Amino acid sequence: MNKKDVDIITLQSFLDAPDGRLFIGEALKHIPFAIKRFYFINQLADSQAIRGKHAHKNLEQVIFCINGSFDLGLDDGRQKWNIVMNNPAHGVLLKKKVWHTMTNFSPNCVILVVANDYYDENDYIRNYDEFVRYIGE
Ligand code: TYD
Repeated sequence: MNKKDVDIITLQSFLDAPDGRLFIGEALKHIPFAIKRFYFINQLADSQAIRGKHAHKNLEQVIFCINGSFDLGLDDGRQKWNIVMNNPAHGVLLKKKVWHTMTNFSPNCVILVVANDYYDENDYIRNYDEFVRYIGE
């Protein structure tokens, strides 16, 4: 991974041993936008599952792996990165126009995503050739 080209957000955390660790993210502070939507993904029973495989025209998101691990593949049309997501304090900013793929899920993996806008299927580019054409325009 070329760290300077991927924005990693590090959450503050407090360990209250043995009563757990608390992680905090605040909109417009740690998260670089006002949050309009969040979603999470669990029950990733099939380690061969592939999620994502799309880019967004305008949406920006921050993705966290709050339990377990997975591999996040990013592709902005010029460079490709693979980031092993295994630290719940680390969020990756998914900028607009970045093709992203999630693979290699651990059985206990839980993914949390915060987004700067509501769900809009028209904002998705789900075909890779179309993505390449779109970013070339
Ligand atoms: P999708 O974005 O394709 O999932 P992933 O990128 O994680 O593989 O979404 C799966 C389905 O859920 C799809 O039918 C759209 C729907 N969906 C919503 O209705 N609202 C949402 O906020 C999201 C993220 C998905």
